[in-house]
Amino acid sequence: MSFYVTTPIFYGNGDPHLGHAYSTMAADILARHMRQRGEDVFFLTGTDEHGEPIAQAAEKQGVTPQELVDRSADRFRDMVGKVNATNDFFIRTTDAGHIERVQAVVDRVKENGFVYEGTYVGWYCPRCADFKNESEIGPGDTCLIHEIPLDREEEQNWFFKLSAFQDDLEKMYEENPGMIQPDFRRNEALSFIRSGLRDVSLSRSQISWGIPLSWDPEQVMYVWFDALLNYYTALGYAREGEDLTDGYWPASWHVIAKDILKFHTVYWPAFLMAAGIEVPQRIFIHGYLLMGDKKMSKSLGNVLDPFEVIEKFGADALRFYCFREVSFGQDGSISTEGFESRYESELANDFGNLASRSLAMISRYRDGLVPEAKPDPVLAADFEGISERVSALLDEAQIGQALEEIWVLVRRLNRYVEESQPWVLAKDDGDAGRLDQVLYSLSEGLRVITLLLHPYLPNSTDVLLEALGEEDLALAAYGSRAGGTKVEKINPLFPKL
Ligand code: MSP
Repeated sequence: MSFYVTTPIFYGNGDPHLGHAYSTMAADILARHMRQRGEDVFFLTGTDEHGEPIAQAAEKQGVTPQELVDRSADRFRDMVGKVNATNDFFIRTTDAGHIERVQAVVDRVKENGFVYEGTYVGWYCPRCADFKNESEIGPGDTCLIHEIPLDREEEQNWFFKLSAFQDDLEKMYEENPGMIQPDFRRNEALSFIRSGLRDVSLSRSQISWGIPLSWDPEQVMYVWFDALLNYYTALGYAREGEDLTDGYWPASWHVIAKDILKFHTVYWPAFLMAAGIEVPQRIFIHGYLLMGDKKMSKSLGNVLDPFEVIEKFGADALRFYCFREVSFGQDGSISTEGFESRYESELANDFGNLASRSLAMISRYRDGLVPEAKPDPVLAADFEGISERVSALLDEAQIGQALEEIWVLVRRLNRYVEESQPWVLAKDDGDAGRLDQVLYSLSEGLRVITLLLHPYLPNSTDVLLEALGEEDLALAAYGSRAGGTKVEKINPLFPKL
């Protein structure tokens, strides 16, 4: 089966921060997990490079918009690599392949009768690149998100008949309750839709940094439609000489945060319906990473630099921390102290020590050969069905809960070492059989959790899987592999800071 997962494409006028890394890591965990299950995965991320904020930022810096977005795309690419994401393509909305495909889709929307010319009068936030309706306007005509004055806009432009899709959208979300996750976000989308959909501008006339409409090149596409279409256009040109659309569309998951819920749950499916294209299967809307109690964001100046964190703790630790500390779907605070404490207590102690110690004992007591023995039945019940449970949770993008399930077993194995005391058994030849069983069971337990942790901790589990030898999730069953394998000792996976 094919599995297509996306992140938002990030604005090409800023520096990547941990919030961007968060969505990227989440999508990567799903992608890696699905690959382990043998699915045919396509994972997309990239940068959103058109629109007014970008043109303005370029002007301020005295560079061309293209120069600005080139630099920014490099930084986002760098971030994606540093968090160890395995994206199959990095889309940029200034790609020629994107531009030509956007124009073709918009032409179809027009041919299908959902585009008309009109005058837009209303309030617009240049930072959100969003036209606000009454419920979205703060005191003194300000943006509720950015707390800046909104611009009063009046211009001739082309409109998209969003209102025509009110019933279809409502029906779709009523009939497919799982489409938006978590569930309370579906209610938000539904209540926005039920409050009444008004048509939206499809183009802007006073902006030049964008994709021109084929039938009216004086106007450029409203940047949100240009951006949303990336999920679809990328499949058309990501692999040279191949069109991947039939193989991967509709997307399995769009992973986004709550800030862009309206665009993804209302504008996007409506636009696809208007073009006669299938809508995405599911959208996961996560919360914000907060510093203190504020959203981390560039404009608020309270961003944690993912590059620094990775430099100090490594990508695995960052991936782990974010999904351990914050319930995926909810807002949650993060902090440097929090990093340090989870790093020490959970990664270095719970997991890292368990791995080093288990391998060291197999080396010391059995010359590095996993003994041939029967799995200790005391662990069997705890491990029963673990791989299926983790898979079922990740099918729902329950990234934090799946990690918790695995961590219960990490702790269980640590208790097992304490209870069974292999170092005592090693002293008495009469206990050799029991020691074989304990070491075999430990190695099996470690092998299973390592396989399951792989999507979260790709670097350190690679070291271990090399030491233990395999990848396929189908093998993540306790007792499924016989003894006899040669294992290696390892250096600490998470060295003390
Ligand atoms: N370019 C648009 C998205 C277009 S998608 C077709 C955009 N870009 S953005 O650079 O502002 O990125 C917003 C996204 O970054 C959020 O939806 C989320 O995925 C991520 N995050 C940014 N800040 C975040 C936090 N503080 N916490 C969690 N995620 C955050 O909107």
